[in-house]
Amino acid sequence: MMRETVIQPRQLIMPYFVTQGEGVRDPITSMPGNYRWSVDTLLDEIQSVADLQIPSVLLFGIPESKDAFGSSAHDPNEAVQRAIRAIKEKFPELVIVSDVCLCEYTSHGHCGEIVNQDVDNDRTLPRLVEAALSHARAGADMIAPSDMMDGRVGAIRSGLDGEGFDHIPIMSYAAKFSSAYYGPFRDAAGSAPSFGDRRSYQMDPANGREALREVIQDLEEGADIVMVKPALAYLDIVREVKNQFNVPIAAYNVSGEFAMVKAAAERGWIDEKRIVLESITSMIRAGCDLVITYHAKDIARWIQE
Ligand code: PBG
Ligand code: ZN
Repeated sequence: MMRETVIQPRQLIMPYFVTQGEGVRDPITSMPGNYRWSVDTLLDEIQSVADLQIPSVLLFGIPESKDAFGSSAHDPNEAVQRAIRAIKEKFPELVIVSDVCLCEYTSHGHCGEIVNQDVDNDRTLPRLVEAALSHARAGADMIAPSDMMDGRVGAIRSGLDGEGFDHIPIMSYAAKFSSAYYGPFRDAAGSAPSFGDRRSYQMDPANGREALREVIQDLEEGADIVMVKPALAYLDIVREVKNQFNVPIAAYNVSGEFAMVKAAAERGWIDEKRIVLESITSMIRAGCDLVITYHAKDIARWIQE
């Protein structure tokens, strides 16, 4: 009766990795229970998301071909664009959020175009706009840019508006930290940088005030929802954003957070269900309106039980 915070399935977003081919359900070793799906198998899988009343999925594409510029990111026949079209047709009610970044599509694994051994912010922007537009044309309901280039929210916003997609919201990865917690994701998506790291564009985990400036910038450029990522280690940032801005907040409970829970649970060292519910409750208590989590289906099932 006195409980202040409740998790509801409608707050959850389930991420998926989609690849080319047919009948593919390729297990991701460091993320037990997660797979690289082809479009056909993903459609069957997503039925269970809809049945559990999870309203939304976040899609990541794993392309057939990569080049220095990430050109396949805006190919209408790439896996993610095909998946968006197919999901939209079969599950019109589902909110399809598409991750926009280049790191899955570049041969070097960085989130933008390389000039002199480093990512060139401004040359990357038009490529991100192209990718976002290809997702919107395929039927994405929301665009989630995860690259952390400066100015990309504004660039994507005007790109979308220019093609009549002014109704498509942007959920920006606003406070995205340069984190070791992304390790399993990079295995899953084959997107680990082949040289250097992402510290010139992602944030230093030590910087809380800078995170707020990143949020302000994204809001000024037109972000509709701001995301903090990773989640559990950054709930102070979530709370501060909640206190300072009247906008919806999402947190990304990332691959490394998920993998740690799974690994300890497998050894019988922790109670998976209790740990997950406690962590997600804390994210919502801190101020999250939405949580992106690989545990989404388990959580929805546990709540229903
Ligand atoms: C791509 C991207 C990453 C994640 C989401 N989008 C990885 C990265 O920045 O290296 C991480 C998600 C996760 O770890 O679950 N820019
Ligand atoms: Zn990236």
